[in-house]
Amino acid sequence: MRLRRSSAIASAPGKVVLFGEHFVVYDTPAILAAINRRVNVTVRVNNTDNIDITSDLGLAGSFKDSRFNSLKGPKEAETILAPLCECARLVLSERGCNLGLDIDLVSNLPESVGLGSSAACCVAITAAVDSLFHEPDRNWISAKAVESERLIHKDSSGADCYISTFGGLMYFVKKEGFKKIYSKKELSLGLINTGTKHSTGNLVSSVKKFKETNQTSFKVLMLLSEIICQKALAAINEGDEKTFGNLMYQNHVLLQEIGVSNKKIDELVNMCLTKGAWGAKLTGAGGGGSIIVSIPRHDYGLKIFFDSLGNDGLGGQSIPVKVDFNGVLVA
Ligand code: PMV
Repeated sequence: MRLRRSSAIASAPGKVVLFGEHFVVYDTPAILAAINRRVNVTVRVNNTDNIDITSDLGLAGSFKDSRFNSLKGPKEAETILAPLCECARLVLSERGCNLGLDIDLVSNLPESVGLGSSAACCVAITAAVDSLFHEPDRNWISAKAVESERLIHKDSSGADCYISTFGGLMYFVKKEGFKKIYSKKELSLGLINTGTKHSTGNLVSSVKKFKETNQTSFKVLMLLSEIICQKALAAINEGDEKTFGNLMYQNHVLLQEIGVSNKKIDELVNMCLTKGAWGAKLTGAGGGGSIIVSIPRHDYGLKIFFDSLGNDGLGGQSIPVKVDFNGVLVA
């Protein structure tokens, strides 16, 4: 396919899982929201056959065929950058074109804390590279981004790439795809980053072990997760934030059962509930990462609590968050 331009810019949002993480890998539903924090990617055709990637995480490297040359950052740079290089190569091979590219990543999405930064990188790179050839198509972008994300963690449900591509709120089932959700009210959400990074792949593997050794109880937990998702869908549709918050905590208890919460997450969740939140739970893979909180509007006490996070001895960092309705953007 012929090039229609030599450079492109794309950006893609991060996400929070509101309900159903981990169980979604085994085909039960999840509810996700895109958030107003993004990964920005600039792609330029260079006159070599190398894929050169720089990231504001302090990493840079050059890929020539299967060889990697680190230009900046620690040894692990290759492990982090290689799937992103493969993401660009996948698009180039689909478009039948072997080009050298400079790829620059700038992100205002903290990475490895459950906010979908890997998926947002895959979506933004796929969209930017594909737009060198033609007007990108969101269905194609999400499907290709999922293939690339599976190089980062092989059992990915794919939910993160879909929400990052399409934005908004969605009800997702791995085998069936997604349905957009329309909410009567804007959700009033808060986000706390525990500051502890996690590996999604390791946590998904630990849940797989739990499932294998506790088959009957895992089936029950999956069923409960599905029921919570269905009730949450109705609560969002109706704008019933109290029920929505209550279900969040019920979902958190299921995540405790499968061993992906920890003491710090539980303390922060309980602290939010004590301060008057409607609900709170870990979001994403857990083991650290982030907490999502449903906040009664105009609750000044809770606002003070959020502002004082980090000074409370628990060490969480509050992140202002709104639902992003744009999804991937290409310029
Ligand atoms: O922590 P994150 O942003 O990687 O979210 C992972 C969500 C899981 O349900 C645990 C895995 C998946 O592929 O859906």
